[in-house]
Amino acid sequence: MAILISGGAGFIGSHTCVELLNAGFDIAVLDNFCNSNAESCKRVEKITGKTFPVYTCDIRDKAGLDKVFAEVKPEAVIHFAGLKAVPESVQKPLLYYDNNIAGTVTLLQAMDDAGCKCIVFSSSATVYGDSNPVPFKEDMTEGNTTNPYGTTKLYIERILKDLCVSDPDWHVCILRYFNPIGAHESGMIGEAPNGIPNNLMPYITQVAVGKREKLSIYGDNYNTPDGTGVRDYIHVTDLAIGHVRAVERALKTAGAEIFNLGTGHGVSVLELVKAFEKACGKPLPYVIAERRPGDIDTSYADASRANELLNWKAERGVDKMCEDSWRWQKNNPNGYDE
Ligand code: NAD
Ligand code: UFG
Repeated sequence: MAILISGGAGFIGSHTCVELLNAGFDIAVLDNFCNSNAESCKRVEKITGKTFPVYTCDIRDKAGLDKVFAEVKPEAVIHFAGLKAVPESVQKPLLYYDNNIAGTVTLLQAMDDAGCKCIVFSSSATVYGDSNPVPFKEDMTEGNTTNPYGTTKLYIERILKDLCVSDPDWHVCILRYFNPIGAHESGMIGEAPNGIPNNLMPYITQVAVGKREKLSIYGDNYNTPDGTGVRDYIHVTDLAIGHVRAVERALKTAGAEIFNLGTGHGVSVLELVKAFEKACGKPLPYVIAERRPGDIDTSYADASRANELLNWKAERGVDKMCEDSWRWQKNNPNGYDE
């Protein structure tokens, strides 16, 4: 019996594969590689000294999924597969609704047909929208998402909850991530975005390695201590360990549960830039630019539910996140492309 990891070749998926293998689980990865490279799976094998099957398959391909389920016979799925670029989702909403929502529905149908009714789902703090006070708690009203990407997460959460109402045999764990950064401390796997990065940390690392000229800080007039946006950055290894705890609990717990995975601490853009300068040992050129539409001033988690019920707490601080992101970028300036 194994855990099937959809989107397992991606940033968070590959780090979760490492922690699952280290915890003694058998795994199989399913990915269409639209935003990843199979090399990440080879590196996971090198890091852990273990091997696992990798299936090239799209989550919208029901026949393909059926074959994978027949072969792997997973006891649970950790579902990372999805598109995640916020600006692209504004330009191509149908692509996002099709890939993320229709894809998840097809995956759930394949699971149901195969009798595999346990899923851990990658949701996002984005479902708290723009009108809840911080810290965000799981029982706050979700909604008011500011882009189609966020709306896909909101709808998939509802689909999963409806499924549990319809059939008490489903075991669902919804994980709302805050801002994952960092990389495995080996420097062998990390975040490798295609094209110009949308997110802060990959942009910073590309400036530091000389691939981009300077960072644009989107606004310094927010209602925050230094005026720049505040986020709850979480080390991807802590996040990955959260998935191990989540799948262990989901296997034993029927119904739908929701957990925030964050540190509970807010860090501003300028604070992250300073921490990164310390890690890489050089100044980072930046300019203050216009606010980015859809950004909120502050986002951080109340992570006490995950602490209590998953026995999980983020342990790695911002300095470690920056050191590990830098090691990955420095050793792999072009990501997984040689
Ligand atoms: P990623 O792009 O690195 O990984 C996603 C993986 O899914 C990729 O390997 C991609 O090739 C695969 N994929 C996409 N569509 C697919 C499809 N139709 N069929 C099969 N595979 C498909 O992204 P990530 O940062 O590792 O994110 C993983 C999950 O976590 C995503 O669902 C994302 O929305 C969610 N999430 C990410 C963040 C973040 O800041 N990174 C925050 C909150 C939630
Ligand atoms: N920022 C910059 N310059 C950049 C990129 C970002 O100043 O080049 C700022 C943003 O304005 C924000 C902070 O850095 O204040 C973090 O921005 P990111 O794009 O890294 O992250 P977001 O918080 O906007 O978005 C992340 C995930 C989304 C998820 C959301 C939920 O990328 O998938 O968190 O909270 F939906």
